[in-house]
Amino acid sequence: MEIIRVEDLSKKFILSSSPGTLKEWLISRGKGSANKEFWALKNINLSINKGQSLGLIGRNGSGKSTLLKIICKILYPTTGSVQVNGKVSSLLELGAGFIPDYTGRDNVYLNGSILGLSREEIDKRFDSIVEFSEIGEFIDQPVRNYSSGMYMRLAYSVAVSSNPEVLLIDEILAVGDSKFKEKGLNRILELKEKGTTIVFVSHSDAMIKKVCDRVVWLDKGLIVGEGTPNDVLPQYAQ
Ligand SMILES: Nc1ncnc2c1ncn2[C@@H]1O[C@H](COP(=O)(O)OP(=O)(O)O)[C@@H](O)[C@H]1O
Ligand SMILES: [Mg+2]
Repeated sequence: MEIIRVEDLSKKFILSSSPGTLKEWLISRGKGSANKEFWALKNINLSINKGQSLGLIGRNGSGKSTLLKIICKILYPTTGSVQVNGKVSSLLELGAGFIPDYTGRDNVYLNGSILGLSREEIDKRFDSIVEFSEIGEFIDQPVRNYSSGMYMRLAYSVAVSSNPEVLLIDEILAVGDSKFKEKGLNRILELKEKGTTIVFVSHSDAMIKKVCDRVVWLDKGLIVGEGTPNDVLPQYAQ
């Protein structure tokens, strides 16, 4: 069963050439806009079936995060379409969705509800979320006092506890220590066993090989390679 379908999708950003200084701004005013168009994704076609894990690789700026944001509807395509059949849980930028002045506890409830969990469901899972995150007593501190690793661990713990049908992960495990990376990876593999469909952005060949059945390689917004990790990763490395 097809869970994610991306058809002929392109995404254009407008790069505003806003002048840096007041003087430049005053000079440029009224001379028409110098905004430039930039295509971050070009004619992307993808079909992902239930339970498949797709890895997205490519150099910085190749469009990986933009594609994930479009799949979870934070951004919209300029042309083409994306269809997702299932409850999506996404781990994108670190702490996106966290409110800095709220405690870890409040953010767990906030994030859980964004992911579609009821208050009772979060109550039931709360202890295991905190335990998995290893946040300990800091759970009642405002998250602005957290390190980036703590942020990530808590966000990750909430997202994987929601038993998503579709899980989107953008490089997030990279900021964890090696123990948490392993634990986080194992949790992804458990979800995969249970049939969660996964799109996984990572710069770690080892993680891609463990998680992904298939890899799509993006370069400057285009798909330039696609296949099994063993086929595509060596080409990308060259
Ligand atoms: N909101 C935005 N406005 C303008 N350009 C953007 C925006 N978001 C991303 N881009 C540009 O789109 C390109 C792809 O970015 P991104 O998807 O973040 O790449 P990746 O995740 O592969 O590193 C980059 O050149 C980036 O600068
Ligand atoms: Mg990115």
